[in-house]
Amino acid sequence: MIAARIDGKEFAARVREEVAQGVKDLQASHGVTPGLAVVSVGEDPASQVYVRNKLKYTKACGMNSFHRALDADTSRRSLLLLIESLNKDPAVHGILVQLPLPAHLDSRDVIQTIDCSKDVDGFHTSNVGDLWTSGKPFIPCTPLGCLMLLKSVEPNITGKNAVVIGRSNIVGRPMAALLLNESATVTIAHSNTKDLPAICRQADILVAAVGRPQMIKADWIKPGAIILDVGINRIETPDGRGRLVGDVDFEDVSTVAGAITPVPGGPGPMTIACLLANTLEAAKRAVS
Ligand code: GUN
Repeated sequence: MIAARIDGKEFAARVREEVAQGVKDLQASHGVTPGLAVVSVGEDPASQVYVRNKLKYTKACGMNSFHRALDADTSRRSLLLLIESLNKDPAVHGILVQLPLPAHLDSRDVIQTIDCSKDVDGFHTSNVGDLWTSGKPFIPCTPLGCLMLLKSVEPNITGKNAVVIGRSNIVGRPMAALLLNESATVTIAHSNTKDLPAICRQADILVAAVGRPQMIKADWIKPGAIILDVGINRIETPDGRGRLVGDVDFEDVSTVAGAITPVPGGPGPMTIACLLANTLEAAKRAVS
């Protein structure tokens, strides 16, 4: 079997077009332009790339973007004061604090300061609680993007065996909740899981979010399974330029799986598209 390639880049472009139309509609109906504030602390190189892209696409779909870049040694008090001022700002509908934060700042404490109606990352415990109790949360962007890609190839998830590798607050846990809400039978595997290949072989749907380059091989995969690869890892190449790969060995696993996301071009572009969709949704809720 040669797996179908699930094109996250193309799907994300369509979502961004829909968001851009939604922005125009909201401007026409209420005179409101959605605004996203992105707060970054320090100069983590990977985070700088992500933040630049988030701001670029926010503007490209007609929204306002506000970047607040703070020094790496910013105090907890200054950061919380900034978030409180963004909470009060009517031009700001979504607030995102780029993670990870420098070690002296507690990300949980910082996230809890964000007004949960502006928490477009879906990381505030109010939104996490709503996700697990089938409320109306803002859904974390990477898992939401994965679910959209999954549904594009398999609309009926009910009763499927889903295995999520990784238990982070950003991907693994919310992904498991989303799959459970779709009535999948969900297993969360992690670094202490015993015989991971055997557990993966049970999966009709496999979500990999571990951060280990090309760890998942063809003999871990149930024939026909759908594979969502959230990993983004840089590996060295003989020419010294390096290359991005996922947690899944794409070439190898493609010989067994039914459908698979590539890296790059899988869940990655969907994360920003879903952030834009969440920001539009926050603005719509603010005027309703
Ligand atoms: N760092 C890595 N992924 C994310 C994300 O989705 N949101 C935020 N705020 N930080 C991140």
